[in-house]
Amino acid sequence: MGREALLSMLKEAQGAEGYLSKDAMHQMAAALGVPVAHVYGVATFYAFLSLELQGRHVIRLCKSVPCFFQEGESLQGVIEGELGIGAGETTPDGRFTLELTNCIGACDRAPAMLVDDEVYGELTPEKVKEILQSYD
Ligand code: FES
Repeated sequence: MGREALLSMLKEAQGAEGYLSKDAMHQMAAALGVPVAHVYGVATFYAFLSLELQGRHVIRLCKSVPCFFQEGESLQGVIEGELGIGAGETTPDGRFTLELTNCIGACDRAPAMLVDDEVYGELTPEKVKEILQSYD
């Protein structure tokens, strides 16, 4: 079974559980007849897969150079202040996980971030706060 099939299983498991548990990875390895280390290697290669429980919404703030230099004020600081968490953390109510990422392909609208699959660009502190409030 190819990498695409494994990736699809990983995405499905993450969608169902919110993260990739050790049990789920062991089951996939057994089902595919591959070493669990192979499953783990693929699971940890992709930024959109997580071995830790994530919030209902995952914020991925771009920290690549074009976005970084377009920020007037630290948007990471704004998000952290609004949510009371740091990068790599999840709010206690399970609403948001904040992650920092490399370019998300929206450099023409820098600074940019993803919330789940939605791209938001030309961010300002005010816009970021409005976006966060629009998610339940
Ligand atoms: S550098 Fe931020 S979206 Fe490309």
